[in-house]
Amino acid sequence: MTDERAVEELLKEVEQRAKVCIACHLAQTRTHVVFGEGNPRSPLVLVGEGPGEQEDLTGRPFVGRAGALLDRALREAGMGRQHVYICNIIKCRAFTIENGRARNRPPTADEIQACTPWLDAQLTIIRPLVIVCLGGPAASVIIHKNFRIMQERGQWFTSRWAPAAIAALHPAYILRQAGPAFDRAYALLVEDLKAARAKVIELKQRQQAQQPLVPPDEEQLSLF
Ligand code: URA
Repeated sequence: MTDERAVEELLKEVEQRAKVCIACHLAQTRTHVVFGEGNPRSPLVLVGEGPGEQEDLTGRPFVGRAGALLDRALREAGMGRQHVYICNIIKCRAFTIENGRARNRPPTADEIQACTPWLDAQLTIIRPLVIVCLGGPAASVIIHKNFRIMQERGQWFTSRWAPAAIAALHPAYILRQAGPAFDRAYALLVEDLKAARAKVIELKQRQQAQQPLVPPDEEQLSLF
């Protein structure tokens, strides 16, 4: 499909430019720019906070412990990485040195501002139906500025980048919980991913009812 190639080519072009970005000081300490990956034709995009150590080393999003938990939750919600596109609000690792060791830290407002043009370009090309924000910082960019993750996760919003957006607990936050608190937090992540999958199906059905002549071979994902 030429249309499909166009989306991938446009994203590649943006990624090539992002790879040499020097818009903020994180460019000086990164190993790789972690642009994002997955199915660029997916109606469902997951947006995290920013790369950690493993992501910085490999150039791929969510490949560390938080990524393993995300994969498990996606599976439980009936999905895999091949069904979604995953990226972050910042593309380079933000960290501080404590006792000689690098520790991840949340991105600053300046870092987010410097990086948002890349996220904007990505989401403008992909045009998802549903965005899942993983954690408060992503929800503050995608949904609204003063997002309170504990009060507002699991609720539906609109976003300038998608007709439907929801926030879920960040897998790294869930990993910091223990015992029943871990189980509760993990169950909420699965619940929100299931809700996102159901929302994609609902919105696609609504789209198809409005455009009954879309040929079936243009359907990308049998899942949705
Ligand atoms: N945490 C994130 O927010 N993003 C990643 O890519 C990895 C961990």
